[in-house]
Amino acid sequence: MSATVFGLGLGPGDPELVTLKALRLLRACAVVAYPAPVGAPSFARAIVARWLSPAQREIVISVPMESARFPAQAVYDRAAGEIGAELAAGRDVAVLCQGDPFFYGSFMYLFGRLAERHPVQVVPGVSSLTACAAAAGTPLAARDDTLMVLPASLSEQVLLCRLAETDAAAIIKLGRHFPKVRTVLERLGLAAGARYVERGSLASERVLPLDAVNEAEVPYFSMILLHRRGEAWR
Ligand SMILES: C[S@@+](CC[C@H](N)C(=O)[O-])C[C@H]1O[C@@H](n2cnc3c(N)ncnc32)[C@H](O)[C@@H]1O
Repeated sequence: MSATVFGLGLGPGDPELVTLKALRLLRACAVVAYPAPVGAPSFARAIVARWLSPAQREIVISVPMESARFPAQAVYDRAAGEIGAELAAGRDVAVLCQGDPFFYGSFMYLFGRLAERHPVQVVPGVSSLTACAAAAGTPLAARDDTLMVLPASLSEQVLLCRLAETDAAAIIKLGRHFPKVRTVLERLGLAAGARYVERGSLASERVLPLDAVNEAEVPYFSMILLHRRGEAWR
């Protein structure tokens, strides 16, 4: 009988936002696997570093960041093989996931490779969406509102069409795409009410209006939140 792989949602970055369930399972697993950009530390591991034990085996999944190669099939094939071998040997594996595993999380590439042959349990985490809304002090949606989540990598034309038809939106994966997104929001008259949130829930968190953002310094871990009707909840 195979052991279990746990996809642990660890929240947006603040260790206090790790759930009790994720922490219990993390401590109980003999093996811990996590993605890390090639040549850089793992954000997911950093969130729970204080709770890891030297007795736990760590599997680093080195993910190339070039978008054209993403998802990096060979990397996830290899990681699924390594994790599968641990499971077959009877050792439970915790896969560390920043935010929530099933909200744009790379865990789903392992889930797709492992779920048919091994027991998998997904533990939801606080997603960056709700953490950034809390940081910005802006409710995401209410009543009959539609809320759209848009990756900033979409083309200007697609962003224009989609944003024109939603009440509220979160635009994620900003980085080098920030100038394009700001231009689109200005064209739609939505820029003034939008809020930029960088590294939500971390000590380095910043919340800014769009015109105060230096577009040369926008990190990957940032998003824009907007609501077409402004403070509709008042
Ligand atoms: C691949 S998605 C992963 C989302 C994650 N699974 C979650 O539930 O939040 C990465 C994007 O989420 C957003 N994000 C994640 N953590 C964030 C944070 N602490 N502050 C701001 N944005 C964040 C950014 O837009 C980033 O580009």
